Amino acid sequence: MRIGLLTSGGDCQALNAAMRGVVKGLANNVNDLEVYGFFNGYKGLIYSDYRLLTSKDFSGILTKGGTILGSSRCPFKEMRIPDENGLDKVEAMKSTYYKLNLDCLVVLGGNGSQKSANLLREEGLNVIHLPKTIDNDIYGTDMTFGFYSAIDVACDAIDRIHTTAASHNRVFIVEVMGHKVGWLTLYSGVASGADIILLPEIPYDEKYIIDAINRRNKDGKGFTIIAVAEGAISKKEAELTKKELKKKREKEVHPSAAYRIAKLVEEKTGAEARVTVPGHTQRGGSPCPYDRALCTRLGSAAAKAIIEKKYGNMVALIDGETKLVPLEEVAGKLKGVDPKCKMIKEAKFMGISFGDE
Ligand code: F6P
Repeated sequence: MRIGLLTSGGDCQALNAAMRGVVKGLANNVNDLEVYGFFNGYKGLIYSDYRLLTSKDFSGILTKGGTILGSSRCPFKEMRIPDENGLDKVEAMKSTYYKLNLDCLVVLGGNGSQKSANLLREEGLNVIHLPKTIDNDIYGTDMTFGFYSAIDVACDAIDRIHTTAASHNRVFIVEVMGHKVGWLTLYSGVASGADIILLPEIPYDEKYIIDAINRRNKDGKGFTIIAVAEGAISKKEAELTKKELKKKREKEVHPSAAYRIAKLVEEKTGAEARVTVPGHTQRGGSPCPYDRALCTRLGSAAAKAIIEKKYGNMVALIDGETKLVPLEEVAGKLKGVDPKCKMIKEAKFMGISFGDE
């Protein structure tokens, strides 16, 4: 059996753990196994940049962050556009796959990478996808790997702000990653006791953010902590078209969501505001134990799917069980936070403001 492996898009903590799961699962059940690792995501497949990997490559990597194969962003919308030398990328990927006589290509990636995996499936290649991203925004799986590890990092950042915040009468704003969705901000915000949580799925009204800060001041709480998702938008912004919002952002002097909120707070309350952006630290370091276990399970289930020739699927986690979900059913769909979900209701019930009421 010959398989190809690639890690694509923004990295996360448990990519190596997932690859280890796949390869150990295959090695334990298949006699003649060859594993080809493509370097830097789809680029390695396009430009035939790969190496035959050995079992040694997968030893001792369960706890290692990053990816031993490297990663890159190769946007799905550019896959059908020839490169600067006129190379047809899709044909080039197929040619590498057939040249190596692969039985299956395993893609570890987020939404964009999943769309490209589905494209390769449509082109006739055998593909298995593993849902990777700290954003937890992949439709069709309850959980993506990397998410829990990133919660730990974001939560640690807010915890640290908490102790310093208690020494000062200030408003602290921590900006959490998550692209267009608020999962990471919601979980890290709730876990670290943020007072106000702002998510892209719940556009905020400036008035309610100010009200929440004033309420805390009135209660004698000297400080306020706001966890804001990088993709958070106001109610007014939510009414704009994508193009109008892009134009608005281009004109703004503030580099990101946290700075916009800081300006608002300083102008409307007179309080001092401080911004913290943990940024890519949220994707860095070792995977947490939950992600290690999750990746070992997903990897093992992927190996089983390959042995049983159940190609064209994402290996998902649904209700605590690993399941195969057809790529054609999920590719291109986003999983956002439901503003009416129980977790939001519970958080609101005990006084956390989401800036919307
Ligand atoms: O998708 C993971 C993610 O970390 C998002 O949370 C974030 O918006 C984006 O990637 C950052 O991308 P880059 O590493 O390309 O700057």
